[in-house]
Amino acid sequence: MSLICLLLILGCNNEHKSVHSTSNLGSQFLTVATDPTFIPFEIQAYKGNLEGFDIDLMNAITSAIGFKVQFESLPFDGMIASLQAKKVDAAISGITITPERLKTISFSRPYLKAGLAITVREETQDIKDIKSLKGKKIAVQIGTTGADFAKTIPNAKISTFNSGPEFFQDLLNGNVDAVISDAFATLYAIKIGTLKGLKVVGNLLTEEYYGIAVPKDSPQLSAINKGIADLLSSGIYQKIYKKWFGSTPPQLPESL
Ligand code: ARG
Repeated sequence: MSLICLLLILGCNNEHKSVHSTSNLGSQFLTVATDPTFIPFEIQAYKGNLEGFDIDLMNAITSAIGFKVQFESLPFDGMIASLQAKKVDAAISGITITPERLKTISFSRPYLKAGLAITVREETQDIKDIKSLKGKKIAVQIGTTGADFAKTIPNAKISTFNSGPEFFQDLLNGNVDAVISDAFATLYAIKIGTLKGLKVVGNLLTEEYYGIAVPKDSPQLSAINKGIADLLSSGIYQKIYKKWFGSTPPQLPESL
């Protein structure tokens, strides 16, 4: 009798273990691309560790849905192609959800409200808004919404760069007149003193939302969305936001 009990218990345990290890949740890895040149969203910190709002958020999402995350550093411009080729499961990199990108990849629900802005050298007086950018030399990061926006400015001479810090350096060196890039990131870098001698001028040029990018028909998209919803309702999202931005986050739409 007791042997039968023991066998039953062992049987139950074995069954439980095998269910766990073959389940989609459990310890499945999610490979996530990121371009860590975008303070405070993703940066390569001391000893090569990744840090930033996006990194904290992705770690929290994956732990909420029972995945382990494996970050892979990739240049921003190569991210969409890597997703299309399914070389990575997802990408988090302050990526703006745009109709153009939605033709080839999918996005999670929006996780941050953002927008583009013009950055110039502190002493610059003649650039105050989008009209004054006509015919000017503008630096952008290749493949970004800032790069797309710059193309719409009449007679602008556009220089493209592979990573964030490079275009700001070009502006500081006096090679270009302005940078068009994500306002939030630039304002943060100016505030903490990483970017010196620069200022953001005018109003926001666009209203954008960041999403986690995934291949079309990604099997993990609904789990990722559930993770974001969980973090929003448990207050973990708000904590991560406060850690990086020092304030309460604005209300986010559930979809665009
Ligand atoms: N939000 C902009 C875009 O989607 C720029 C993002 C740049 N991100 C980065 N990690 N360099 O095009």
